[in-house]
Amino acid sequence: MKEINTKTYKIAFGQSGYSLLNTLIENNKYSKVSVLVDDNTEKFCLDIFKQIINKEISIIKINSGEEFKNLGTVTKIWNDMTTQSLDRKSLLINLGGGVITDMGGFAANTFKRGLDFINIPTTLLSMVDASVGSKTGINFNNLKNQIGTFADPKLVIIDEQYLETLSEREVKSGYAEIFKHSLISASIFNLLLENNQLYFNEEIINNSIEIKNKIVLDDKFEQNIRKNLNFGHTIGHALESYFLNKVNKLTHGEAIAIGMICESFISNKIFNLNLELVKKIKNHLLRIFPKVNLQHENYEEIIKLMSFDKKNYLDKLKFVLLKDLGIVKIDVEVSENLIKESFDFYLS
Ligand SMILES: NC(=O)c1ccc[n+]([C@@H]2O[C@H](COP(=O)([O-])OP(=O)(O)OC[C@H]3O[C@@H](n4cnc5c(N)ncnc54)[C@H](O)[C@@H]3O)[C@@H](O)[C@H]2O)c1
Ligand SMILES: [Zn+2]
Repeated sequence: MKEINTKTYKIAFGQSGYSLLNTLIENNKYSKVSVLVDDNTEKFCLDIFKQIINKEISIIKINSGEEFKNLGTVTKIWNDMTTQSLDRKSLLINLGGGVITDMGGFAANTFKRGLDFINIPTTLLSMVDASVGSKTGINFNNLKNQIGTFADPKLVIIDEQYLETLSEREVKSGYAEIFKHSLISASIFNLLLENNQLYFNEEIINNSIEIKNKIVLDDKFEQNIRKNLNFGHTIGHALESYFLNKVNKLTHGEAIAIGMICESFISNKIFNLNLELVKKIKNHLLRIFPKVNLQHENYEEIIKLMSFDKKNYLDKLKFVLLKDLGIVKIDVEVSENLIKESFDFYLS
């Protein structure tokens, strides 16, 4: 697979990615190279990674899970960086899913005012989304990604080998972002719908990364077009936060799958998005993501969480909606009633 260029770093695939990494390490003469893993990526991914790296590494290990994407864990990472004597000439390699790449990027970018890091995403979601685009961050006060920075990795390596140990639930979570990319760009949408089940291949992964990269190249700091990537996320993030402390947590993808169904419905009401298309989107996503039982009495609480969303400005609930496949409208005000109706539509 041909590498993808961003303005400042490369997204490279498989062996050629690892060659670039070894060259980078050699050229930069890093004082230390440390690898950030969680319980699962230590178990499933670290051995694969160790086979390709030519330099001695130290390990920083954290607990796995979104509930650990917080300041407490960042403090632990900073402590380990200190103990391992990392300095500004050191390199941190984030080997893991979106939690690792977001939090590792943040820890590296803030430690001693910033050291180099690279991302090796090991989940489908982090391959097609989280590891690309230079957003780093952590959750704060139960709200998603409230604290963070924009920071470029030196390199991103996509190696599908890592996906072999990923659970089906996590694979589906990444698929939700692939599907989102197909809605906001209109490419690969028909291919995904034709299969009408969980389906992706190397080319779809590549295409999905290209879509995200192109948008980020145009608008890294999310002044306009990057907001397109938030389709499904205003409602999705609120649901993710809402379920975070419940027994039945949602994966990011599960939450935004619901978000995409609801926001397609709202798009129909406001921009006349074709109703047949809305139904196709709903049916496709419900085939893959089992319905989550939202309760009427919880609607208000979920909507309240939306007002903390970074996309919202001066208390208005702002949405990203579709006028058609690939035609996106940003900063659209939506009433609470219409949001509630969209939950009813999801449940119907
Ligand atoms: N920065 C961005 O632009 C951006 C974009 C999208 C999502 N995100 C963030 O990404 C996070 C979600 O990413 P995620 O779904 O990858 O979460 P994650 O990192 O929690 O990974 C999901 C689970 O899979 C495990 N895992 C990872 N790789 C594995 C492998 N190869 N084999 C077996 N298990 C493995 C992890 O330990 C974890 O339990 C969220 O925090 C979200 O906010 C960031
Ligand atoms: Zn997302």
